[in-house]
Amino acid sequence: MKTIQVNLGSRSYQIHVESGLMDRISSILSEENHGQKWIIISQHRLMELFGFNLMENLKHNGFNSDYITLPTGEAAKSLNEFSRIISQMIEMNCDRSTTILALGGGVVGDVAGFAAASFMRGIDYYQIPTSLLAMVDSSIGGKTGINIAEGKNLVGAIYQPKSVFVDPTLLESLPREEVISGLGEIIKYGAIQDNAFFSEISHALDNLESFSFEKAIYRSCEIKADIVSKDEYEEGLRRILNFGHTIGHALEAHFGYGKLRHGEAVSYGMICAGWISNQLGNLLKNDYQDLKVTIEKLPLPLLNKFDQNQILPFIKNDKKNMSGKLHFVILDGLGSASTTNDVSDDLILNSLKEIQ
Ligand SMILES: NC(=O)c1ccc[n+]([C@@H]2O[C@H](COP(=O)([O-])OP(=O)(O)OC[C@H]3O[C@@H](n4cnc5c(N)ncnc54)[C@H](O)[C@@H]3O)[C@@H](O)[C@H]2O)c1
Ligand SMILES: [Zn+2]
Repeated sequence: MKTIQVNLGSRSYQIHVESGLMDRISSILSEENHGQKWIIISQHRLMELFGFNLMENLKHNGFNSDYITLPTGEAAKSLNEFSRIISQMIEMNCDRSTTILALGGGVVGDVAGFAAASFMRGIDYYQIPTSLLAMVDSSIGGKTGINIAEGKNLVGAIYQPKSVFVDPTLLESLPREEVISGLGEIIKYGAIQDNAFFSEISHALDNLESFSFEKAIYRSCEIKADIVSKDEYEEGLRRILNFGHTIGHALEAHFGYGKLRHGEAVSYGMICAGWISNQLGNLLKNDYQDLKVTIEKLPLPLLNKFDQNQILPFIKNDKKNMSGKLHFVILDGLGSASTTNDVSDDLILNSLKEIQ
């Protein structure tokens, strides 16, 4: 088993990456079992695929376990679903010793993590990511939360899990578009932090069928763990993880959540941000071309024609939520990123031509 450390003092934890890990989780967690209730939070389909088996193993090893399911899609990240989880946990006689196992993609991880952060002022939880995006991104770093009518992720907490268990074999049932979405975030890690990894991924994408997920997941987790360890509360360095996200979020909001997946929108956002980096004189033309060619190796959905001016209000909204500062992430080279507050509306509008 390969293990990565997230160094956060008393909140430090490990990310375990191994094919077949799912079957060993209950024995690994045995030391943490003191007779408390263990609640798996997941979705119906994922319970059928992995959850019932996990619960069986837990029970077999003497755990007192139960489960709660959420609907699929962004709708699960709502105040309603959040309060339903809390009520169900009360009904199940959960208390401050109860431990949550978040089994699912980013949606499950975000809501279950927030339930853990708030239930009786905070209980332990573990992340068991099942989507590629959750394995390399959302399960690490402790960002938890839900959406409200006014916007995505506007309610939440930074609350770290006790461990993250990544079993790449779970990807076998993940729909192909979800895999592509996760690959977008993997390209991001190379682009912002590791030139050699970027080249490796770019090369590997030429033959997607034989892509080695375990290796790419491991390196991505290492990069995220390292950045989060240095800046847990996103006061500086952690912002570079948002490369491609300013425009990506705007595209996601414009086209509708669920229509364009997060990683797909971020992939388009990275092309725009790469172009802007070149216009600002930070990224060589060749490197921008390399970035664009690599992203275009992903079979992304074609974007319907859109009016560029409709995108700007979403970016302004993002900015408003960041106390008025944009913190736009640019590349200073492939494998090196920084942030700037100095990206004009015109530059953003022009960058959108690169993806139309
Ligand atoms: N907390 C963070 O740091 C962070 C970072 C990035 C994204 N996010 C959030 O993550 C969410 C997106 O996550 P996502 O892309 O994983 O989407 P998701 O959780 O909706 O999962 C995508 C779909 O795949 C299904 N699925 C998941 N694993 C499967 C498997 N192994 N086999 C078959 N089906 C499977 C899910 O049931 C779902 O229908 C967004 O809400 C986003 O805001 C959070
Ligand atoms: Zn992302």
